[in-house]
Amino acid sequence: LNRGFSNGVLVSGVAGFIGANLTRELLSQGRYVVGVDNFSRGTKENLSWTESYGDQFVLLTGDVSDSENLGSLLDIAGIAQKSLLEVIHLAANSDIAAGVSDPRIDLKDTLLTTFSLLEFCKRSGIRRFSFASSSAVYGDHGETRINETTAPLFPTSNYGAMKLASEAIISAACESFLDVGYIFRFPNVVGTPATHGVIFDLVNKLKSNPGPLEVLGDGAQQKSYLHVSDLVDAILYIKSVETAGRVVFNIGPVDEGLTVREIAEIVIQVVSPSREICFTGGDRGWLGDIPRFFYSVDKLSSIGWVPVMGSRESVRRAAVEVAGQLCCA
Ligand SMILES: NC(=O)c1ccc[n+]([C@@H]2O[C@H](COP(=O)([O-])OP(=O)(O)OC[C@H]3O[C@@H](n4cnc5c(N)ncnc54)[C@H](O)[C@@H]3O)[C@@H](O)[C@H]2O)c1
Repeated sequence: LNRGFSNGVLVSGVAGFIGANLTRELLSQGRYVVGVDNFSRGTKENLSWTESYGDQFVLLTGDVSDSENLGSLLDIAGIAQKSLLEVIHLAANSDIAAGVSDPRIDLKDTLLTTFSLLEFCKRSGIRRFSFASSSAVYGDHGETRINETTAPLFPTSNYGAMKLASEAIISAACESFLDVGYIFRFPNVVGTPATHGVIFDLVNKLKSNPGPLEVLGDGAQQKSYLHVSDLVDAILYIKSVETAGRVVFNIGPVDEGLTVREIAEIVIQVVSPSREICFTGGDRGWLGDIPRFFYSVDKLSSIGWVPVMGSRESVRRAAVEVAGQLCCA
C-alpha cells in the first residue's frame, strides 16, 4: 500500500500543533507522510486539510509508546516499512503541569514513545531519527546565555527530565543503528492550531471570564517565543545541511524574549482591549517553571538560518491567529 512512494516519513504526534504544521510543509514538498497519533491532545480537525493530498498522506490512530503496537498498526494499514526513510518524533505529553502531578504521564508519552520508536527503527532498518526536544532539558541557569554545550543539565520539571532521557537514548542509538539523530531543542513555540501554551490559556481565560485577566506568577518571567512557521523552516533547514551523527541545535529567535506581562498586554490588545491584568504572584508560573531564560541560537545562525520573526512579532501574530481559532477575534 505504499503506492509507489519511496520517500516516506513517519511522523508521531502528527495531529498536534507542531505535527500539523510540519506535515503541511512535508506534503507540500512532495514527501509521503505516514502520521500517527493517539488523539490524547491533537485532533482530526487539525488535519482536515490533508484530504486534498489523497494517498500521499496516511493517518494511523494509536499509541506509539509500544513498538509492537506501532508495528501492528502499520501492518494492518498495509504500509510497507521499506517505504519509510525516517522518523520524526513529536509525540509527547506537552502539558508540563500534568507531569508534575503525575510523572507517569511523561514517562509513557515522552520517554517510552522515544524508546519504542527507536526500537521500531532498529527493527525496520530506518536510519534517520528526528526528535522534538526542549529548552526544558537545561534547567535553571539564571542569567547565563544557554548554548548547546551548557552544563550541567539538571531539568527542573519531569517533562524536561524525560526529554533529556530521550536525548540520551537517541545518542546511544547513533552509536549503533542510526546514521543521524537530530535533537532539536525548541523554545516556546506559538501559532495555530494551538492545543496548549500561554497564548492559548490567556485567550481562553479572556473568552470565558469577563473580569480582570488572571496571569500566573508576577508577570516578570522572561522567555523567547518562536512562530511555528519559523520552527518548521528551521527543522527542515538543519536537516538539509547536517546529515550525519548526533546533530543538536537550539532553535529560537535572535532576541532575549518577552515577559509574561508583555504577552498578556498583547493578547488583551488583540482580544479585549479594555481588560485589566491581575497577577497571582511569585516568580514562577507553576512548579518546574523557570523565571528567566536566555537562549543562544548562535550555532543555528552560524549555519546560515535566521528566523523571519522575533519574539514580539511571533507573539502578536499568534495572538491574532489563536483568537481566530477560538472564535473571539
Ligand atoms: N509547543 C511548544 O512550545 C514546544 C516546546 C518545546 C518542545 N515541544 C515538543 O514538540 C512536540 C510537539 O509539541 P506540540 O506543541 O505540537 O504538542 P501537542 O500536544 O499539540 O502535540 C503532541 C501530539 O502527540 C500526541 N501524543 C501524545 N502521546 C502520544 C502517544 N503515546 N502516542 C501517540 N500520540 C501521542 C498528542 O495527541 C498530540 O497530538 C512535543 O514533543 C513537545 O514536547 C513543544
